[in-house]
Amino acid sequence: MFNVMLKAEIHKPVMCNEVLEYLKLSPGMIVVDGTIGCGGHSVRILEHILPGGRLIGIDRDHESLDITRRRLSKFAQAVSLIHGNFRDLDKILVMVGVNKVDVVFFDLGLSSMQLSDPERGFSFQTEGPLDMRMDRTSFIQAYDLINNLNEEEISSILWSFGQERFHNRIAHLLVTERKKAPISSTSEVANIVMRAIPRHYRFGRIHPATRTFQAIRIAVNRELEALDEGIKKAIDLLQQGGRVAVISFHSLEDRIVKINFRSARSEGKIKVITPKPLRPTSEEQIKNPSSRSARLRVAERQ
Ligand SMILES: C[S@@+](CC[C@H](N)C(=O)[O-])C[C@H]1O[C@@H](n2cnc3c(N)ncnc32)[C@H](O)[C@@H]1O
Repeated sequence: MFNVMLKAEIHKPVMCNEVLEYLKLSPGMIVVDGTIGCGGHSVRILEHILPGGRLIGIDRDHESLDITRRRLSKFAQAVSLIHGNFRDLDKILVMVGVNKVDVVFFDLGLSSMQLSDPERGFSFQTEGPLDMRMDRTSFIQAYDLINNLNEEEISSILWSFGQERFHNRIAHLLVTERKKAPISSTSEVANIVMRAIPRHYRFGRIHPATRTFQAIRIAVNRELEALDEGIKKAIDLLQQGGRVAVISFHSLEDRIVKINFRSARSEGKIKVITPKPLRPTSEEQIKNPSSRSARLRVAERQ
């Protein structure tokens, strides 16, 4: 149990004060946390919706759900935890017997717990297998993409999901190296990226493998398609006056949120509460560097 709580505490919830303020929570509300992770936001949300409220927490990751189940055990009566993908929000709500909800919240990407576990293969900073699945019951791993896709397909992933300017060079070297032996670890990929890019770019502000790892992770988990579907469903499942809030961590995600909000607004479905995304305070950015790229957008169902 101690170990479990220690892991849960590794992830600091991002922009928690802003989320609580903009969700306009009150007792009795039904809230979906579509990315419950280690339950950092949900613990605080529950304080505002009890008594009488209900929280439906979704995550693709069994291990996170196990942690959260223990962490939220004293609220068990009010909480339903579901292993699933928020792109199936409509089906999940049918499963738990709910029609409409007051709030849907998404805090995208990975938790620090996932990122810091070498076995999950998300980080280029630790040696690990090329896994990168958020849902370890799903089929395709990073290994499969890196060792089986053709050069053009890899290059396209690196460009589309990582905006990696050296996508062609990196894809070429990955495909050349895998002819000698399959590429099987995070450090091999990180080394190949280092060698593929021009010398001058090897010591920049961010690690040269950052964009490659982001791109492969997005492809493995089909994150952008899930986000697009998830937001659309969230908007349709909100009660009138209900709110949807999304924290994104890179421009590809933020763009999907912005475009979906814009089109739902033009259909008269929502009012956008944050014309510009909210950013974490500088104090939070110093205390929690992983919050630095966070952007929060909120909309209200009409
Ligand atoms: C940044 S963490 C959430 C942290 C959480 N708000 C907290 O404070 O502990 C993102 C979580 O969303 C999950 N996730 C990402 N995409 C998902 C999806 N499409 N469906 C369900 N869960 C998803 C990840 O597995 C991860 O646990």
